Amino acid sequence: MLDINDIAKSRDEALLQNKVQPVFMLGIDIYQLQASSGSVIWWYTQVAWAHDHIITVCYFEALMDTIPSFMTAQHRHCDDSFIATESAVSASNWIQADSQWSIFTTDLDSHLQQEETILFPAFEQATGMTMGPTQVMRTEHAQMRQLIAEMTQALSAQNKDQFLGLSETLMILMQQHNMKEEQMLYPMTQTHLPDAAAVLEQVKAY
Ligand SMILES: [Fe+2]
Ligand SMILES: [Fe+2]
Repeated sequence: MLDINDIAKSRDEALLQNKVQPVFMLGIDIYQLQASSGSVIWWYTQVAWAHDHIITVCYFEALMDTIPSFMTAQHRHCDDSFIATESAVSASNWIQADSQWSIFTTDLDSHLQQEETILFPAFEQATGMTMGPTQVMRTEHAQMRQLIAEMTQALSAQNKDQFLGLSETLMILMQQHNMKEEQMLYPMTQTHLPDAAAVLEQVKAY
Protein backbone atom coordinates (compact mmCIF):
# COMPACT_ATOMS: atom_id res chain seq x y z
CA MET A 1 0.00 0.00 0.00
CA LEU A 2 1.32 3.42 -0.88
CA ASP A 3 1.96 5.81 1.94
CA ILE A 4 -0.08 9.02 1.69
CA ASN A 5 3.04 11.11 2.39
CA ASP A 6 4.80 9.51 -0.57
CA ILE A 7 1.80 10.31 -2.77
CA ALA A 8 1.78 13.94 -1.61
CA LYS A 9 5.52 14.18 -2.24
CA SER A 10 5.10 12.76 -5.78
CA ARG A 11 2.31 15.24 -6.46
CA ASP A 12 4.27 18.24 -5.20
CA GLU A 13 7.38 17.27 -7.13
CA ALA A 14 5.39 16.69 -10.31
CA LEU A 15 3.60 20.02 -9.97
CA LEU A 16 6.86 21.83 -9.23
CA GLN A 17 8.55 20.31 -12.25
CA ASN A 18 5.51 21.09 -14.39
CA LYS A 19 5.12 17.44 -15.20
CA VAL A 20 1.37 17.46 -14.74
CA GLN A 21 -1.30 19.88 -15.74
CA PRO A 22 -4.65 19.99 -14.04
CA VAL A 23 -7.57 18.88 -16.15
CA PHE A 24 -10.82 20.61 -15.32
CA MET A 25 -13.71 18.20 -15.59
CA LEU A 26 -17.11 18.26 -13.92
CA GLY A 27 -15.96 20.95 -11.54
CA ILE A 28 -13.02 18.93 -10.37
CA ASP A 29 -9.35 19.57 -10.97
CA ILE A 30 -7.76 16.26 -11.65
CA TYR A 31 -4.07 15.68 -11.58
CA GLN A 32 -2.71 12.47 -12.93
CA LEU A 33 0.48 11.39 -11.34
CA GLN A 34 2.83 8.59 -11.87
CA ALA A 35 3.88 7.20 -8.53
CA SER A 36 7.33 5.81 -7.98
CA SER A 37 5.84 2.33 -7.89
CA GLY A 38 4.59 2.83 -11.44
CA SER A 39 0.94 2.90 -10.48
CA VAL A 40 -1.30 5.72 -11.61
CA ILE A 41 -2.67 8.01 -9.00
CA TRP A 42 -5.36 10.59 -9.38
CA TRP A 43 -5.25 13.66 -7.20
CA TYR A 44 -8.46 15.60 -6.99
CA THR A 45 -9.13 19.02 -5.59
CA GLN A 46 -12.71 20.07 -5.40
CA VAL A 47 -14.00 23.44 -4.35
CA ALA A 48 -17.18 23.22 -2.30
CA TRP A 49 -19.35 25.62 -0.33
CA ALA A 50 -19.57 25.07 3.40
CA HIS A 51 -21.80 27.58 5.19
CA ASP A 52 -20.35 30.96 4.14
CA HIS A 53 -16.92 29.69 3.27
CA ILE A 54 -15.44 28.10 0.25
CA ILE A 55 -13.54 25.07 1.30
CA THR A 56 -11.21 23.06 -0.83
CA VAL A 57 -11.60 19.38 -0.47
CA CYS A 58 -8.55 17.46 -1.50
CA TYR A 59 -8.46 13.76 -1.75
CA PHE A 60 -6.53 11.02 -3.40
CA GLU A 61 -7.67 8.04 -5.23
CA ALA A 62 -4.80 5.66 -5.49
CA LEU A 63 -6.03 3.40 -8.22
CA MET A 64 -3.71 0.49 -8.29
CA ASP A 65 -3.56 -2.18 -10.88
CA THR A 66 -7.19 -2.25 -11.95
CA ILE A 67 -9.10 -2.15 -15.24
CA PRO A 68 -10.29 1.46 -14.60
CA SER A 69 -6.78 2.72 -13.76
CA PHE A 70 -5.05 1.00 -16.65
CA MET A 71 -7.62 1.92 -19.31
CA THR A 72 -8.03 5.49 -18.03
CA ALA A 73 -4.28 6.02 -18.18
CA GLN A 74 -4.42 4.96 -21.83
CA HIS A 75 -7.09 7.60 -22.50
CA ARG A 76 -4.88 10.31 -21.00
CA HIS A 77 -1.90 9.03 -22.95
CA CYS A 78 -3.88 9.27 -26.22
CA ASP A 79 -5.10 12.76 -25.26
CA ASP A 80 -1.48 13.92 -25.02
CA SER A 81 -0.51 12.98 -28.58
CA PHE A 82 -3.88 14.21 -29.90
CA ILE A 83 -3.37 17.66 -28.35
CA ALA A 84 0.25 17.70 -29.55
CA THR A 85 -0.96 17.01 -33.11
CA GLU A 86 -3.51 19.82 -32.93
CA SER A 87 -0.84 22.27 -31.72
CA ALA A 88 1.57 21.21 -34.45
CA VAL A 89 -1.10 21.57 -37.16
CA SER A 90 -2.06 25.01 -35.81
CA ALA A 91 1.59 26.02 -36.11
CA SER A 92 1.84 24.42 -39.59
CA ASN A 93 4.59 22.20 -38.25
CA TRP A 94 3.70 19.27 -40.50
CA ILE A 95 6.62 17.01 -39.61
CA GLN A 96 5.77 17.20 -35.93
CA ALA A 97 2.06 16.83 -36.73
CA ASP A 98 2.69 13.66 -38.74
CA SER A 99 4.78 12.06 -36.02
CA GLN A 100 2.31 12.91 -33.21
CA TRP A 101 -0.66 11.79 -35.34
CA SER A 102 1.05 8.50 -36.01
CA ILE A 103 1.58 7.95 -32.26
CA PHE A 104 -2.03 8.90 -31.53
CA THR A 105 -3.62 6.68 -34.18
CA THR A 106 -1.45 3.68 -33.32
CA ASP A 107 -2.11 3.97 -29.58
CA LEU A 108 -5.83 4.63 -29.99
CA ASP A 109 -6.27 1.78 -32.43
CA SER A 110 -4.62 -0.63 -30.03
CA HIS A 111 -6.80 0.69 -27.16
CA LEU A 112 -10.02 0.28 -29.15
CA GLN A 113 -9.02 -3.24 -30.13
CA GLN A 114 -8.26 -4.18 -26.53
CA GLU A 115 -11.76 -3.05 -25.63
CA GLU A 116 -13.52 -4.71 -28.55
CA THR A 117 -11.74 -8.05 -28.41
CA ILE A 118 -11.13 -8.56 -24.69
CA LEU A 119 -12.86 -6.13 -22.35
CA PHE A 120 -16.31 -5.79 -23.93
CA PRO A 121 -16.79 -9.53 -24.56
CA ALA A 122 -15.76 -10.21 -20.93
CA PHE A 123 -18.28 -7.60 -19.73
CA GLU A 124 -21.02 -9.03 -21.97
CA GLN A 125 -20.37 -12.55 -20.75
CA ALA A 126 -20.33 -11.55 -17.08
CA THR A 127 -23.46 -9.38 -17.18
CA GLY A 128 -25.46 -10.92 -20.02
CA MET A 129 -25.83 -7.38 -21.43
CA THR A 130 -24.92 -7.73 -25.08
CA MET A 131 -27.04 -4.91 -26.49
CA GLY A 132 -26.35 -2.37 -23.76
CA PRO A 133 -23.42 -0.03 -23.09
CA THR A 134 -20.87 -2.07 -25.05
CA GLN A 135 -22.96 -1.72 -28.22
CA VAL A 136 -23.08 2.05 -27.75
CA MET A 137 -19.30 2.07 -27.26
CA ARG A 138 -18.72 -0.02 -30.40
CA THR A 139 -20.87 2.39 -32.44
CA GLU A 140 -18.87 5.34 -31.11
CA HIS A 141 -15.61 3.56 -31.95
CA ALA A 142 -16.82 3.30 -35.56
CA GLN A 143 -17.57 7.05 -35.56
CA MET A 144 -14.08 7.76 -34.22
CA ARG A 145 -12.45 5.59 -36.88
CA GLN A 146 -14.40 7.40 -39.60
CA LEU A 147 -13.30 10.80 -38.32
CA ILE A 148 -9.70 9.60 -37.96
CA ALA A 149 -9.69 8.40 -41.59
CA GLU A 150 -10.93 11.81 -42.76
CA MET A 151 -8.38 13.58 -40.56
CA THR A 152 -5.54 11.45 -41.92
CA GLN A 153 -6.52 12.58 -45.41
CA ALA A 154 -6.72 16.23 -44.31
CA LEU A 155 -3.30 15.91 -42.70
CA SER A 156 -1.66 14.41 -45.78
CA ALA A 157 -3.19 17.24 -47.85
CA GLN A 158 -1.89 19.71 -45.21
CA ASN A 159 -5.39 21.14 -45.02
CA LYS A 160 -5.24 22.94 -41.70
CA ASP A 161 -8.84 24.20 -41.57
CA GLN A 162 -10.34 20.85 -42.43
CA PHE A 163 -8.12 19.01 -39.96
CA LEU A 164 -8.85 21.39 -37.09
CA GLY A 165 -12.58 21.38 -37.83
CA LEU A 166 -12.70 17.59 -37.69
CA SER A 167 -10.42 17.47 -34.66
CA GLU A 168 -12.90 19.54 -32.67
CA THR A 169 -15.64 17.00 -33.47
CA LEU A 170 -13.38 14.09 -32.56
CA MET A 171 -12.29 15.75 -29.33
CA ILE A 172 -15.90 16.16 -28.17
CA LEU A 173 -16.77 12.61 -29.21
CA MET A 174 -13.74 11.18 -27.40
CA GLN A 175 -14.33 13.22 -24.24
CA GLN A 176 -17.93 12.04 -23.97
CA HIS A 177 -17.01 8.47 -24.87
CA ASN A 178 -14.13 8.28 -22.41
CA MET A 179 -16.22 9.77 -19.63
CA LYS A 180 -18.87 7.07 -20.08
CA GLU A 181 -16.23 4.36 -20.00
CA GLU A 182 -14.34 5.81 -17.05
CA GLN A 183 -17.38 6.55 -14.93
CA MET A 184 -19.56 3.58 -15.80
CA LEU A 185 -18.24 0.82 -18.02
CA TYR A 186 -14.76 0.28 -16.56
CA PRO A 187 -15.89 0.30 -12.91
CA MET A 188 -18.79 -2.03 -13.78
CA THR A 189 -16.40 -4.34 -15.60
CA GLN A 190 -14.02 -4.41 -12.64
CA THR A 191 -16.92 -5.17 -10.28
CA HIS A 192 -18.75 -7.79 -12.34
CA LEU A 193 -15.89 -9.85 -13.71
CA PRO A 194 -15.16 -12.89 -11.60
CA ASP A 195 -11.54 -12.76 -12.84
CA ALA A 196 -10.86 -9.04 -13.42
CA ALA A 197 -7.14 -9.41 -12.73
CA ALA A 198 -6.78 -12.15 -15.36
CA VAL A 199 -8.70 -10.08 -17.94
CA LEU A 200 -6.45 -7.09 -17.22
CA GLU A 201 -3.41 -9.31 -17.86
CA GLN A 202 -4.91 -10.31 -21.24
CA VAL A 203 -5.43 -6.61 -22.10
CA LYS A 204 -1.84 -5.83 -21.19
CA ALA A 205 -0.53 -8.72 -23.24
CA TYR A 206 -2.58 -7.73 -26.31
FE1 LIG B 1 -13.87 2.86 -26.06
FE1 LIG C 1 -11.56 3.51 -23.93
